[in-house]
Amino acid sequence: MAARWGILYRLGMTQIRAVIFDAYGTLLDIHAAMAKHAARIGPDWPAISADWRAKQLEYSWVRSLMGPAHHRDFWRLTEDALAWAAARHHVADAAVLADVLMAYRHLDPYPEVPIVLRQIRDLGLPRAILSNGEPGMLADATKSAGLDHLLDDVLSIEAAGVFKPDPRVYRLAGQRFGLAGSQMAFVSSNPWDAYGAHAFGFQVFWVNRGGQPAEYGLRQFVTELPDLARLPGALH
Ligand code: LAC
Repeated sequence: MAARWGILYRLGMTQIRAVIFDAYGTLLDIHAAMAKHAARIGPDWPAISADWRAKQLEYSWVRSLMGPAHHRDFWRLTEDALAWAAARHHVADAAVLADVLMAYRHLDPYPEVPIVLRQIRDLGLPRAILSNGEPGMLADATKSAGLDHLLDDVLSIEAAGVFKPDPRVYRLAGQRFGLAGSQMAFVSSNPWDAYGAHAFGFQVFWVNRGGQPAEYGLRQFVTELPDLARLPGALH
């Protein structure tokens, strides 16, 4: 233990006392919904799924910038974004779109996620989600992915009324656990979310599954991981 504190002291880092995860794209595979119905959508499904995600996020940023009167929850944004992506790619089959949308409530976790959450639990560290998702969609997704019993809490931005990366969102995790940002790990695959969490003061782990180029100068101040498998070992 003394050696561990010594290392932390030398690195200028505080011991991590809770681990906070982004949900969509970090624990849950956002492209699994369209992949499930790929045969009915056709070979363009990856591009349609990518447009769906990009619009969903764009709507979250635009509505946050415009203020509380323009806030709509993430499920509504997910529906609106799917409608736009379908129109752009001329997918007109309402039954397929309804099935794809419902599949978004039951996304697959990335394969390593359950074991990694168990390993972090065994380190004695509390685990929570902090997500743009509204509480109902997060409850459905964590339950169907079998993650609900591996998490201490699922925090939704709806409690702040604004989307990431607004600092009021990241504050929710500190309030929940009674910890400063520097005492918590924040894990996200979204570079803009990793940057927002870093600005708030978390110790940030950027899960760069696709080997994307770094943005926001991330490599200077976050730990980059290819997936979640090495996260438990990186926490201490
Ligand atoms: C979330 C979005 C950013 O889960 O994916 O918060």
